[in-house]
Amino acid sequence: MELFDVYPRFDITPVSARGCWITDQNGERFLDLYGGHAVISIGHSHPEFVKNLSEQLHRIAYYSNSVQIPLQEKLCAALGAASGLDTYQLFLCNSGAEANENALKLASFHTGKSKVIAFKNSFHGRTSAAVAATDNPSIISKLNAGHEVAFVPLNDLTALENALSEEDVCAVILEPIQGVGGLGMADNAFMESVAMLCKRYGAVFIADEVQSGFGRTGKFFAFQHSTATPGIISMAKGMGNGFPVGGILIHPDISAQSGMLGTTFGGNHLACVAALTVLDVLENEKLISKIPELERYFRMELSAVPYIRQIKGKGLMLGFEMEFEVADLRKKLLYEHRILTGSSKNKNLLRILPALNIGADELDLFFKALKTELQ
Ligand SMILES: Cc1ncc(COP(=O)(O)O)c(C=O)c1O
Repeated sequence: MELFDVYPRFDITPVSARGCWITDQNGERFLDLYGGHAVISIGHSHPEFVKNLSEQLHRIAYYSNSVQIPLQEKLCAALGAASGLDTYQLFLCNSGAEANENALKLASFHTGKSKVIAFKNSFHGRTSAAVAATDNPSIISKLNAGHEVAFVPLNDLTALENALSEEDVCAVILEPIQGVGGLGMADNAFMESVAMLCKRYGAVFIADEVQSGFGRTGKFFAFQHSTATPGIISMAKGMGNGFPVGGILIHPDISAQSGMLGTTFGGNHLACVAALTVLDVLENEKLISKIPELERYFRMELSAVPYIRQIKGKGLMLGFEMEFEVADLRKKLLYEHRILTGSSKNKNLLRILPALNIGADELDLFFKALKTELQ
């Protein structure tokens, strides 16, 4: 049998990892500024993560949602405390796309409507409604294209209000900071207006925090840089530090009905322990409060690097747009300097999404490599 060949892959084979470092099969070490696409939040193989998951594995790894799983209630309490959203309700699933799929479905159940508004350059995942709300026709099959989605430009309030005005919209789905799309940012005032207009026209504001959540931008959720109140917040990636777990937080105005949503694996014992451990480590190591200083350092150091047009992003969801395409630069960083970085839809943009406990000394290795390549 062969793998279904859908991924362009770099020629490295990680066999172990610790913190921000990956070791390959030849014993070579790589600095991981990509975090497996913003997934590694508290660092690879964090000792607490290894200990807690191993201990849970020895007790019980999994049972379905047909029984009591008190770890889920423990996670509700911890997430409520960490995010300040303790009045919201939690539904657990396994990935970012699944979180958004459930968010959109729930918005449709709640409003009785079906049209979705998404934004230019959005990415919300590969399942049917999530991919239909993704601004990339090449990954939307005929099957997915049956959903009714209007794409409006980010930060264009007039276009948004026009699209909402027929009152046939169930959800407006927005990444506060676009990931795959290339770090386009919703202005705080715009996010606040999205929330307000959704209320006015009877739609649900879904904040897609799959990539930007769990502290990555210096607040627990990126929308919390504003005063907006979403109806649903989707999350995944950093939530499990590599263990597959996702979820949605649901505003108290939206009521649950038995059987409305469901999943076999979502909220299993191991997934809950992974997410609880991430929350514990974020708190114990005060990781979120250290992020603004790391962002300042990144911006300051990069201001001395040539050929950079613009530094983009927030917290540790950062990147810079060069005057040229960055594919060759990323290859040089990987194969000559042993540094993994990220890309985006914008071919001139290089992104970094490191573990939230990265140190300035590790970032220095990146700046040094960049200066060597570009000067
Ligand atoms: C903002 C956003 N939403 C949703 C997804 C989909 O997540 P997953 O790949 O876990 O399905 C991604 C993945 O990159 C993402 O960046």
